[in-house]
Amino acid sequence: MAHIDTAPDAAVCGRLAREVHDRIGTGLALALRRLDLLELTATGLTPAERARLADARAALLDTLGVAREVVSSLRGPAVAPAAPVRASLEGELRGFLRSMEPLGVQVQLRVDGDDSWVPPLIAGEVFVVVREALRNALAHAGGRRVTVRVCLAPHEVHAVVADDGVGFDASAPRAPGRANGLLGMEERARALDGTTTVTSAPGRGTTVTVWIPIKGDDIDD
Ligand SMILES: Nc1ncnc2c1ncn2[C@@H]1O[C@H](COP(=O)(O)OP(=O)(O)OP(=O)(O)O)[C@@H](O)[C@H]1O
Ligand SMILES: [Mg+2]
Repeated sequence: MAHIDTAPDAAVCGRLAREVHDRIGTGLALALRRLDLLELTATGLTPAERARLADARAALLDTLGVAREVVSSLRGPAVAPAAPVRASLEGELRGFLRSMEPLGVQVQLRVDGDDSWVPPLIAGEVFVVVREALRNALAHAGGRRVTVRVCLAPHEVHAVVADDGVGFDASAPRAPGRANGLLGMEERARALDGTTTVTSAPGRGTTVTVWIPIKGDDIDD
């Protein structure tokens, strides 16, 4: 399962835990509070607007829960994996797409295979990696079409996120402290002995592929 080769530096973990808790966690809690107040006091909202507010609230609550888990794992001995997928990978991805409400972009999502073949923790990691690739496609590509294809198999998970947008120079050196999304995707896949590849060039769209093996000892996770 997910592992790291070197012992994490306790001081660095402690500092990160404090930053996540005191800045990110607190900021999320504050945003949640402001949203609660808005829901209570706003008048004349349509049902659709209320539903959007409720979605925003649910997303904040989820993220706050994740921030808490990250802090706990930074304080404890284990590496923080993504939260296990609760229902189906397709359901999680469709839920994310619904809350993103992409405008002017056609997103095609297809998931083949059976969720029961994939340990929930691996499905959770795949979800986070695909979500980041999709978020990047919606945030940076400026294209008209994004396709997401996930293949679940008894011994592996394979996913491709492709857009027809502006592309970028994926081989250019990344400035330190930037590209945390791409780095996180690579690190999550590598921790599971898998790989990610980013194929892109200016003007030619971007394709991100993820491959994660499922080994015998993962099955009981
Ligand atoms: N699908 C894409 N189309 C065009 N450019 C992309 C795409 N994916 C990534 N990039 C480029 O790679 C950069 C790094 O992406 P990365 O996900 O690491 O960081 P980010 O999206 O800028 O920030 P964050 O993920 O922290 O919100 C982006 O800023 C963008 O320039
Ligand atoms: Mg990103």
